[in-house]
Amino acid sequence: MCGIVGILGNHEVSPMILDALRRLEYRGYDSAGIATVNDGVLDRRRAVGKLINLSDLLVHEPLPGRSGIGHTRWATHGGPTVANAHPHRAGRVAVVHNGIIENFRALREELTADGAQFDSETDTETIVQLTSQYLDQGMAPVQAARATLARLDGAFALAFLFEGEQDMIICARRGSPLCIGHGDGEMYLGSDAIALAELTDRITYLEEGDWAILTRAGAQVFDAEGQQTSRAVTRINVESARVDKSGHKHFMAKEMAEQPAVLKAAMGYYSGLDHSGIDLPEALDFKGIDRLILVACGTGFYACQVAKYWFEKLAGLPVELDIASEFRYREPVLGPQNMAIFVSQSGETADTLAALRHAKPHVGQVVSVVNVPTSSIARESTVALPIHAGPEIGVASTKAFTASLQVLALLALRAGHDRGHLSDEEFNRLINDLRSVPGYVAQALDREEEIRRMTESLAQARDVLFLGRGTMYPLAMEGALKLKEISYIHAEAYAAGELKHGPIALIEQDLPVFIFAPFDALFEKTISNMQEVMARQGKVFLVSDAKGLAEAGDVPHRLQMPTVPDLIAPIVYAVPAQLIAYHAALHRGTDVDQPRNLAKSVTVE
Ligand code: AGP
Repeated sequence: MCGIVGILGNHEVSPMILDALRRLEYRGYDSAGIATVNDGVLDRRRAVGKLINLSDLLVHEPLPGRSGIGHTRWATHGGPTVANAHPHRAGRVAVVHNGIIENFRALREELTADGAQFDSETDTETIVQLTSQYLDQGMAPVQAARATLARLDGAFALAFLFEGEQDMIICARRGSPLCIGHGDGEMYLGSDAIALAELTDRITYLEEGDWAILTRAGAQVFDAEGQQTSRAVTRINVESARVDKSGHKHFMAKEMAEQPAVLKAAMGYYSGLDHSGIDLPEALDFKGIDRLILVACGTGFYACQVAKYWFEKLAGLPVELDIASEFRYREPVLGPQNMAIFVSQSGETADTLAALRHAKPHVGQVVSVVNVPTSSIARESTVALPIHAGPEIGVASTKAFTASLQVLALLALRAGHDRGHLSDEEFNRLINDLRSVPGYVAQALDREEEIRRMTESLAQARDVLFLGRGTMYPLAMEGALKLKEISYIHAEAYAAGELKHGPIALIEQDLPVFIFAPFDALFEKTISNMQEVMARQGKVFLVSDAKGLAEAGDVPHRLQMPTVPDLIAPIVYAVPAQLIAYHAALHRGTDVDQPRNLAKSVTVE
């Protein structure tokens, strides 16, 4: 996905737009650009790579003007080049865009046939060429923008800037988030409120299909039917929206360190007033359902995979699991007694949002577990459950994963108790186990130096395996994903029992194999699998607790975790999975917070 910004300011806007783009860079960083109108003249600067390159360019080639739009890109159509960088311009109009225009090829053919000269490979350029054509036909900017929007299929958050229009930006939202900021004699727009947190705390979230005309006097908002409407101005907590590293080397390091506090807050938020039970929205009805459907992407999906074990064991609920990008295309069988739960840190992942929209007409309840309560997924759910992890900027999800697990565990306990599967005594015991999570996570974080040393040899690794059984299996998947996405080392995860059915052919001298295995009912079987690896000279790293390490015998590379109740093991063992990836990436010198090819939330399918 990409980040877009617009400012109608009372000062030079390029530095303000640059700062706002810095707060959106987690959304994509393949290229960046700004366009301004200065004394009626439209101009732009663009640079490939991170924002620092655009900032350098602006030093040598300043871009004056008090009205402007800006963009930071995650490439979809066309590689990261200057020509493909936004803002795109044609004649008297410039545009920045987050999303995908699905009918851009047909539009491009039509426009080319009409004589348009395209400079880029992007879908976005068709937008600005179309608007330019309408302007040339004599339409005024607002009409040209409206006529353009009517021709677009797909998802977009857009901002238009016109030559000669010092006090106007037109913006539109369809499928990708967009908010308006209200200043004092200034107006702003951004892909999210984080971008505008240094400028204002007064935010209007545009609804699906909305478009708006911004002037310094305010915003005129029109709904999907073109009727003028009004949208609430809310005050955001700029402190929580303010993002910095708080002295850590990376956002990821900060966010891992925040986990004890975040998990404590999540627990506090959902514990009953007397801190005994679980306080969840009354609309959640686990008694009347016959099946749960859990849908997410990436790390969110692995949280769902852990939760499947919990819901089936603790609540006797059948659980169907799917990655969002597959879910709706397999034509799942859905019914009014199903509850669908969507897990998403950003709440804007296009695949997950599309899956939610597919399920909603067919299931009885649509629940979301999200980190952004104002996000599209949250707003389109019947019940949205915030995880209260605070802004997560590092592309690799850490605190959102463990906080999502905490909330999913609470849901599983509530379901088990409501459905009579858990006695009051079991329910209360398990809630206390969940209350102990923050302390155990803090203990796991204290192992960081051991993990840093343990992962030094990974700097030269080409392939790494992760193994686990039960809830440690999805955790192994999460560990492999973390390692891949920030260190670029190829990693795979298997259910430990599955290794002998083929993947064991991969084991060779010194191949690193991480095994997550607390001393639980599956421990002995996992250790047998570990011995199969060691018998073939694989280099085993055993992550277990004191009893497990004692039982496992002579395993040279070992990491001791605190002894924890079975329920919370996947939450606590997420910490070594995160730290292994983090330090492997440091040893390799990759960009931990903004790994290549990635973006924090993928708002395109
Ligand atoms: C996680 O570390 C990855 N960055 C990625 O898999 C992410 O979990 C996935 O894109 C889903 O994002 P979401 O939680 O915002 O929906």
